[in-house]
This record gives sequence, structure tokens and C-alpha cells, in this order.
Amino acid sequence: SAPGPELAADVIEPGPKAARKPPVGHPIGLLAELTHRCPLRCPYCSNPLELERRDGELDTATWKRVLSEAAALGVLHVHLSGGEPTARPDLVELTAHCAKEGLYTNLITSGIGRAPGMIDALFDAGLDHVQLSVQGASAPTADRIGGYKGGHEAKLAFARRVVELGLPLTLNAVIHRGNIDEVEDILALAVALKAKRLEVAHTQYYGWAYVNRAALMPARPDVDRSIALVEEARKRLEGVLVIDMVIPDYYARYPKPCTGGWGHRTLNVTPTGKVLPCHAAESIPGLDFWSVRDRALGDIWRENPAFNAFRGTDWMPEPCQSCERRDMDFGGCRCQAMALVGDASATDPACSKSPFHARMEALATLEATGAAPDYIYRTIGGAPAPREAEAHL
Ligand code: SF4
Ligand code: FES
Repeated sequence: SAPGPELAADVIEPGPKAARKPPVGHPIGLLAELTHRCPLRCPYCSNPLELERRDGELDTATWKRVLSEAAALGVLHVHLSGGEPTARPDLVELTAHCAKEGLYTNLITSGIGRAPGMIDALFDAGLDHVQLSVQGASAPTADRIGGYKGGHEAKLAFARRVVELGLPLTLNAVIHRGNIDEVEDILALAVALKAKRLEVAHTQYYGWAYVNRAALMPARPDVDRSIALVEEARKRLEGVLVIDMVIPDYYARYPKPCTGGWGHRTLNVTPTGKVLPCHAAESIPGLDFWSVRDRALGDIWRENPAFNAFRGTDWMPEPCQSCERRDMDFGGCRCQAMALVGDASATDPACSKSPFHARMEALATLEATGAAPDYIYRTIGGAPAPREAEAHL
């Protein structure tokens, strides 16, 4: 599963108008993490280190109920994700159920495993959009990063079938030290495959990416070069390809408006049924996330104290509380503040107004210029111990 850019269209733009709404509005996007199973082993996976096994996953009937409740709650977009969502044999049935409920469906897929055998049936069931991950532009690079030989070629064949069917295709390329030299070729690949959109998403350091940060962190000059390439391509490819870019937090001036504000626009349902404001929320200690096994989705959205913990702006400390950007970025990311500062209510250290910002950038520079360690590949049951010494800035 690639980190959050797939939700970017839902979450980037809430401005002052959105901020005047009552604190509990209705969500517009649901990330349905149907399974953590996946044939790929990407070291930047945003899934938690403790991956759920198949026997803990929600059954088909419960997912259908949750999707109906989401539609009733005002959700418009459902991102069918994982792991690799086509690992669930009931994906066609769930997609048809979304279509029946009037939900726009986006399949977030690796394009391998069961995906090629299922795409025609998904199209027939009413699937609206496909977001395909690519790990690089060349097979040797991509297959090494994904930990799966032959994966890249299989993805290309899958992409061609998606376009043949007439489904809009977005390519999602998570960019890091191991593939940042291929950004130009990734842009060309997206054009060659006739993708409608390309997400050049610099790695966000959550889950497995956090553990692999030193292996993934790119150097500042390489980041600047990739940004320049994208800006040039945006002009050159206007009307051909839409290009979104996620800037790396560690080199940013201001933080991203993570998930469009906690409990504001989107929610996640995990494979076992926990409802989260964002994919990394369980990394914040002391929050009790409720399950769709016990409660209706709308009750959880409105009532769960964990959702209300960082909703709106009242919870913010300084410098966010009196900052003119607080309704634009919502103080950044709570999970990043937790991971790097040890306090989920702190200003995201990606912000230049955070007292920890300089140390965050220095850490990135140090890691990017040191020797890259080997990847710790994503695997079920293989979560490494947290890096205590590096936990806080
Ligand atoms: Fe955003 Fe807070 Fe930084 Fe202001 S101080 S820019 S609200 S993170
Ligand atoms: Fe940003 Fe959790 S990942 S708030």
C-alpha cells in the first residue's frame, strides 16, 4: 500500500471556508484497507509493522454493511486498498455493492497477484478508477524495491489492460533514494502507458518507511532536481498528463494538511474493522479506536473520543494556535509529531515554526549522505523492534 497521496484529491484543499463548518461534518473519502496481504514487499509500505493475518479480516457481509453506512454518512469516494485488495476473492462483489450504493470506487493496486485475472470482472462490476503503484521505471530497480522478480513487467501488462478497458489510470510512484534518478523515466512511462494522472510521491515516513528511513531518505539536491523535473513536465504535458507531487516532509517549510485535518474529511477502516482518522493513527498511544464489529460507522465517526482528540483547532498548542495557517494545514501530522517529538499534540516538526524543525532537517541530511543500509522488507510477522534511540529528535 502506498502512503496517503491517493487521498490527496480529497484532502489537500480545505481552506478557511471548510474551517468555518461545525467541527463534526461528514467524511467524503473512505480508505477501505481490505487486507494487509500483498505479493510485494516494499520497504516504504505505509501499513503498520504488525500486519493483520487473513483470519482476522472482516467478512464480506460486514464490509457491505460498512460501505452502506459510509454512503449514508455522506462518503463519496471509496478507495479499495490494502495490502493488495485483489487478494480478497470477494472484491468484485464489494465493488458491485459500492456501485449499487452510488459510491465512486478507486482500486489501489500493485497490479500483480490476482489483479490481472480480476480486472475485467471489476470493470463489469462498475469500478470507476485504477491507481497502480510502480516502484521505478526500469525492471531491475522496480523489482529490487518491490522484492518481487518479474513484478514490473506484469504491472505494465496490467496497466495496458486497464487503459484498453477505458478505465482512467493513475500511476503512483513513491520516490526515494533508490529510484529518484528515474523520475524523468517515470514521467515518460506514464505518458507511454496513457495514464491520466501521475503521482510523484516522495516517501512519507510511517510504518515500514519509518523503519527504513535511512535507506530511503534522498539527498536535498536530488529532491530539488526531481521537483524541477516535475515542474517542467507539468508545463510540457498540459492536457496530456496531470501530475501531482508530494514533497518530502523532512525538507519542507510547512507541513502537509495531513488527511485534510483529523476527523474532518476522511476515515480508514482497517482489515480487522478498526476505524481510524488516518492510516498511522494506532501509533499514538492512549487512543482507543472503536471497531465496526461493535458499532455503526456513523456513531464511531461522531462519538469516538479518539476522533475528537484532534478535531478542529481548539486542541492546538502554540505556535499553531495563533498561526494564520492553522485552518490550512491543521498543524500538520499528529502521527509525525508523535514519532519525532513524542507528543501527538505538538506542532508537526515539518513546520519551520516548530522548535524541532532544524533537527528534523539535519537528521534527513545525515541519513541521506551516510551509507544506505539494506532494506528491511515488509513481511507479515516480521516487524522489527522500534528504534528507541532514534525515536525522538
Ligand atoms: Fe501550520 Fe502550526 Fe506551522 Fe502554523 S505553526 S504553519 S498552523 S504547523
Ligand atoms: Fe498524519 Fe496520522 S498520518 S495524522
